[in-house]
Amino acid sequence: MSKALGSKYSIETSSESKEYFEFVKDLLDDEVVSQMKNFTHHYSTTRYQHCINVSYYNYLVCRKLGLNSRSAARAGMLHDLFLYDWREVPKKRGDLPHGMKHPKVALENAEQYFELGKREKDMIERHMWPLTVKFPKYAESYVIVVIDKYTAMLELGTHCGRKLRSFTKNISRKHNTI
Ligand SMILES: [Fe+2]
Ligand SMILES: [Fe+2]
Repeated sequence: MSKALGSKYSIETSSESKEYFEFVKDLLDDEVVSQMKNFTHHYSTTRYQHCINVSYYNYLVCRKLGLNSRSAARAGMLHDLFLYDWREVPKKRGDLPHGMKHPKVALENAEQYFELGKREKDMIERHMWPLTVKFPKYAESYVIVVIDKYTAMLELGTHCGRKLRSFTKNISRKHNTI
């Protein structure tokens, strides 16, 4: 059972997320997309779960705003489709920083395996704006720019919360053994 971080609704079984699930179910089960489960993202989660988080909230916000919520859901699921740990890739002279480079890699991968509309392509390619310099072309792309950063904060917050919990646990254990 999959859920977006902070959501109580199961993506697969909840009536609240029925339309969302219809939009992305082929992506959730896809072999290439599933490989993102093998990579840690923002310390606390996997890249696959991060993409679910972005996809789900991107869908909800775009639906609320009367934008293309199907494209929002699908682009969210594919926006970080790069299958490597960027910290382990040897850096070459002249290489762009990861934050600027990976949207293009994700778009190339997504185009290789899936049919993409113009909005979906723009959302994937520009989700790191303003790092990616060129302005997004569609309202949906501005939404994913915000949602990607919002979910990153949620995920990093989860990581910090875990660290803090284990730190206080260790302190109280030490205190009790003195
Ligand atoms: Fe990204
Ligand atoms: Fe992302």
